[in-house]
Amino acid sequence: MIKTVKTVDLNGKRVIMRVDFNVPMKDGVVQDDTRIVAAIPTIKYILAHGAKTLTLMSHLGDPSKDAKKAEEKAVKDGKSFDKEKYIKGKHRMEPIAAYLQKKLGKNVTVVFAGEDGCYNKKAFIDGQKPGTVIMLENTRFHKEETSDDAKERDKLAKALAEYGDIFVNDAFGTAHRDHASTASIAKFIPVSVAGLLMEKEVNYLEPIVTNPVKPMVAIIGGAKVSSKIAVLESLLKNSAALVIGGGMAYTFLKAQGKKIGKSLVEDDQIDTAKKILETAKSKGVEIVLPVDHVGAEKFDAAAKPVAVASVNVPDKLIAMDVGPKTLALYQKVIATAKTIVWNGPVGVFEFDAFAKGTEEVAKMVAGATANGVITVVGGGDSVAAVNKFKLASKMSHVSTGGGASLELLEGKKLPGIEVTRCRDYFIAGNWKMHMTRAESANLAKALVKSLKGGKHKYMVAPSFTSLETVGEILKGSNILLGAQNCAEEEQGAFTGEVSVLQLKDLGVGVIILGHSERRHNYKEDDALINKKVKLALKHGFEVILCVGETLDEREKGKQEAVCKGQAEKGLAGVTAEELSRITIAYEPVWAIGTGKTATPDDAQNVHKFVRGVVEKLYGAMAARQIVIQYGGSVKPDNAAQLMAMEDIDGALVGGASLKNEDFARIAKFG
Ligand code: 13P
Repeated sequence: MIKTVKTVDLNGKRVIMRVDFNVPMKDGVVQDDTRIVAAIPTIKYILAHGAKTLTLMSHLGDPSKDAKKAEEKAVKDGKSFDKEKYIKGKHRMEPIAAYLQKKLGKNVTVVFAGEDGCYNKKAFIDGQKPGTVIMLENTRFHKEETSDDAKERDKLAKALAEYGDIFVNDAFGTAHRDHASTASIAKFIPVSVAGLLMEKEVNYLEPIVTNPVKPMVAIIGGAKVSSKIAVLESLLKNSAALVIGGGMAYTFLKAQGKKIGKSLVEDDQIDTAKKILETAKSKGVEIVLPVDHVGAEKFDAAAKPVAVASVNVPDKLIAMDVGPKTLALYQKVIATAKTIVWNGPVGVFEFDAFAKGTEEVAKMVAGATANGVITVVGGGDSVAAVNKFKLASKMSHVSTGGGASLELLEGKKLPGIEVTRCRDYFIAGNWKMHMTRAESANLAKALVKSLKGGKHKYMVAPSFTSLETVGEILKGSNILLGAQNCAEEEQGAFTGEVSVLQLKDLGVGVIILGHSERRHNYKEDDALINKKVKLALKHGFEVILCVGETLDEREKGKQEAVCKGQAEKGLAGVTAEELSRITIAYEPVWAIGTGKTATPDDAQNVHKFVRGVVEKLYGAMAARQIVIQYGGSVKPDNAAQLMAMEDIDGALVGGASLKNEDFARIAKFG
């Protein structure tokens, strides 16, 4: 879940916001203001909620890279090159500040912080009248902005963090970049949230990969298979049908043994195309490829269109667009969708004679929107297409990000989004060695009903013997299936053990490891637990890693040392990336099943301490984001008090998870 600007108190605060004002410029004049306009709702929101100052930062092209290219071109063309003039017209933010001033009107003052860069601006910013918008110079004038060296980036990030009490990231178009102003800054500011544009982008794009309204149809076009492999693989997971069009379709048709004439093809991607076709078949995903075409002898806007009525393209032709039979096929699959995602044109729409296919697809998707289908257009070229056909306003969402939307659809984590994620409550039930299969099934059925629509993350871990039965019942619900343990090896002669592969086969998503009952009754030590943690992570599971002291350890004042040791040793060798799949559960052993609960303040202190341990290992951002559950006699009547504590992010519930009413009340906090 991302935290948005709507959840924080802005009154009297200094806000620093990353926007994506990387707009096309010519001689200091804005050529297309889409991205500036897209950020205005967030700017207005922040000002309307009483921010003291709003400092905006953005990149605008890349001054040194762009200038080098332009100079080389000028030299090649035998022309003179005035670098200062070039940079002034293309990379300086002053004209953008002036443009924004015009857009915001007289009631708002926009000031430019100067051409001398982004450092040492605190006094300037703090000296402005309340309600002023300050535009910083292009962040990419500083090489630290994009440096591969985190320490370098931190240098600029720290300077920028001085200008705000709250960091807002609204630069979706740059969210896939791990830069000083998009991500590193969040390390040095206590509050990092998403702006309204970022929120909208994430709300539309993320569910496509995680949990779309089904059935979903994906339309993927564009020139190259190679640039779309990851997105095709990712979309195969949730799509009922994948429509493949554009230049890349011909690599697929060749892979199927069809004749493609002189059409675009990537011969080194034929095997990849075959593999994607096989995966689709095994998953029951329908693949829709062109069955007729519009061809041309030359790749040229003036080339004469030639109708090709069959799937095979004659030797002398290049396929430039899809034909009418293909469009009829598209219409048929599109009519089955409740969600449509479209990335990449299906023909050379830049040439009017070959634009019909893409225009018809745009019309079909627009028509679907009118019928209540969720339609999302992501990626540079398809966005250009819907703009060209004046249909952008007829889509549910048209993304402002090219690379960013593609990476999000690929299922990647985007640094600029990750810094705005906040901890969601995670309520888990550990059913331990209780209940028969039938009893477990009854409880699972009741929980599916009672937790439906619940706002948090839920999991139940039945005993191994009930996993399959409970898993079937939980399918399609908002409750994850958990296991209470796993073996430390993948498979083999380990009598009585259950492996991660077997758990995966049953649809388990989360494994509880290092539970105190395993540590104390079965003598599991930190090394063994760590081995299991790493194995579970390797196989894609989420892990709940339990830590906690015994009564004896507590009385001897060893509480913190025990929790620290168990956390550090349990997490040894776990990468920062993997840490996002770890939840820590603090379970004081003396409170488990005894009816004794740590007081909310006591528990809060340990949770804060454990978060500090994570901070030392993985940094402030990771510490802010890791979920720490409390476990030990959590009951309906103490859940609310515990959950109200700053560092308590959920519960691992034993006894009280065995009754539907109790667990449901805990899940809703009492
Ligand atoms: P109780 O809620 O029964 O104390 O159990 C806590 C626990 O061990 C959960 O894993």
